[in-house]
Amino acid sequence: MKKILILNGPNLNMLGLRPKEHYGTLSLQQINHLIQEENDSFFDIEFYQSNSEGDLISKIQSCLSFDAILINPAAYTHTSVGIRDALEMFPGVKIEVHLSDVDQRDDFRKINYIRDVCDICFSGKKEESYLEAIRYLKNIN
Ligand code: DQA
Repeated sequence: MKKILILNGPNLNMLGLRPKEHYGTLSLQQINHLIQEENDSFFDIEFYQSNSEGDLISKIQSCLSFDAILINPAAYTHTSVGIRDALEMFPGVKIEVHLSDVDQRDDFRKINYIRDVCDICFSGKKEESYLEAIRYLKNIN
């Protein structure tokens, strides 16, 4: 069975308390549950969330043999050369995911260090962005 890492960055552990117009009402645990339902045992999924840049980088480094990474780097999308460089090394499929439409918000969110090292981006549809990413991966596998 193919292995996928689902990686979530800072403050995504607080979903449910964050602005609902951008991020919806669900907790990360509820979103992960929906992802498992959509997955329906197709992939072996590992979930990981951290508020720390170094932990996210170490996680990517330890999963280089996985088939795909689905990553919402959250605020690090707009700041982290380190996460970008780690993703660049990953040989499998890389999918950028966002709950909100980062390209249509504040100017500082238009700065994106990871877009061009990822294969595709799903954003702006709240939890549905993650589910679209899972469907995309199922279709290409
Ligand atoms: C986010 C968008 C980022 O700009 C923000 O810092 C987040 C979440 C999203 O999923 O829409 O924390 O990645």
